[in-house]
Amino acid sequence: MTSLTSPLQLGFLASHGGSNMQAILDAISAGRLNAQARLVICNNSQAKALDRARQVGMPALHLSSTTHPDVQESGESSGQALGQALDDAMAEAMGAHGVELIVCAGFMRKVGKRLLAAYPNHILNIHPALLPRHGGQGMYGIHVHQSVLAAGDKETGVTIHLVNNEYDRGPILAQAAVPVETGDTPETLQARVLRLEHILYAETLQKIAMGEISLD
Ligand code: GRF
Repeated sequence: MTSLTSPLQLGFLASHGGSNMQAILDAISAGRLNAQARLVICNNSQAKALDRARQVGMPALHLSSTTHPDVQESGESSGQALGQALDDAMAEAMGAHGVELIVCAGFMRKVGKRLLAAYPNHILNIHPALLPRHGGQGMYGIHVHQSVLAAGDKETGVTIHLVNNEYDRGPILAQAAVPVETGDTPETLQARVLRLEHILYAETLQKIAMGEISLD
């Protein structure tokens, strides 16, 4: 999988709210992003991202260790590697829906080997900090912003990077900074960063669509 078509054929992986996915769907509707949303896969049957997709008639699948149990599977804690049956099912579903670029949007599990092999350099993730700072296992959600404040950083931001087999370590495609303000709590910082996430993800995808960012 190397060449991309026009419009970009996107698949999403999400676990919870899906506000980043929504921002990308909105950018497509508004003509700011030349892409088609083909599928979202959620490992959480209650994910709001599933509802958001169904509202716009986009295929939405719940695939998890419940639907695809593995012998060695022992639950769904955050960041845990995917079991092989689930990894296989996800790769097959993405392929069957014609997905050529996978957008992780708040996906709380490590992407599986099979999916990585099927989409080399074609899986993106967004991280709510300026990687390599405040990344790695356990650095998700509010923990990231707590870490920024504890470190006394004067700025934080958003990183969009390619996914490889190490947490938050794939090549960086785009970054944008957000100031840390006096009196910030993890929650206020999270909200400010999330607003920028919603802009930067769609902008970065459009640069990929335009060939301004190459994934090969
Ligand atoms: C975002 O902060 C994103 O950076 C991180 O998880 C959060 C997902 O939010 N990976 P949402 O589900 O897109 O609302």
